[in-house]
Amino acid sequence: MLIKRKRAWDLPQKEVTEYQVYKNRRQFLNTVLTLGVASALPRVGLAKPVDELEVYQDLQSSPFSTDEKKTPFESVTTYNNFYEFGTAKEAPSLYATEFPDESKPWRVKIDGECDKPGVYEYDDLIKPFTLEERIYRMRCVEGWSMVIPWVGFPLGDLLKRAQPNSKAKFVEFTTLYDPEQMPGQRRAVLEWPYVEGLRIDEAMHPLTILSVGLYGKELLGQNGAPIRLVVPWKYGFKSIKSIVRIRFVEDMPQSAWMKANLSEYGFYSNVNPNVDHPRWSQRKERRIGEFLKRETLMFNGYGDEVAELYTGMDLKRHY
Ligand code: MTE
Repeated sequence: MLIKRKRAWDLPQKEVTEYQVYKNRRQFLNTVLTLGVASALPRVGLAKPVDELEVYQDLQSSPFSTDEKKTPFESVTTYNNFYEFGTAKEAPSLYATEFPDESKPWRVKIDGECDKPGVYEYDDLIKPFTLEERIYRMRCVEGWSMVIPWVGFPLGDLLKRAQPNSKAKFVEFTTLYDPEQMPGQRRAVLEWPYVEGLRIDEAMHPLTILSVGLYGKELLGQNGAPIRLVVPWKYGFKSIKSIVRIRFVEDMPQSAWMKANLSEYGFYSNVNPNVDHPRWSQRKERRIGEFLKRETLMFNGYGDEVAELYTGMDLKRHY
């Protein structure tokens, strides 16, 4: 039986305070590092300097991009959920600075119900695709949101190459399991590795992307380097980070969050202001950097593109 613990997700009202505390701590760390007394601290660091990140050239723009004001890079890369590095918002940017370990090749396995399974080195995996900039809203189940300029390509383009067969009804995604690199995996916060899933038509939808960067640069560890999913009409936890396996399956995958608490985190998890989380309302959200809350939009504002995927479904039951 699941023992109820207080998680960061359970405390949406505290987020702004948490962020302020984080800012102060970051300033403190900066000062400490400048004074050269960092060796007295445990092994935490600041994010890789921005000017050392690989810059993507000639990104295609996308008609799916929003022209809303982008959330600043600083917030996108320091206010994160990546429980493999801890549950506090600042933990991923402090502890994922050397993630992924560049001495270990990153491979992605594509298998299950398909005719062309394979194991790909990261560079080979992304080589065939034209990278685009996709500026998407992201709405976290906790009640905050951001606007993030992702770099990526449609997941469907990759999936088609693997030639899914007629039994492929769902796609399951798995994050790396490596407690040496991911200290959060040494604690039983979730059942590791983190797993997520989509129905095959959701996975093939042109809005669904695999992201390899943001703000025109390679992804930082805290955002799910080197490759993560982005599904903008679903709560952010569906957008699984640091993927090592993509598997076509016949039955609905059991995600890490479904296993942790099915009554709170369902398989579909479409952004829906009309279906409250059992412990808080989903009607409004706080856009990071803004003071007043805004109304949450059905399907996070992507209803014109995706509502038809759910025709005839009771979205209160299939939450
Ligand atoms: N993927 C993994 N592997 N582990 C996580 O803890 N958190 C999810 C999602 N993907 C998470 C994950 C949640 S709750 C959110 S809101 C988004 O990542 C946050 O993405 P960001 O930190 O890049 O904004």
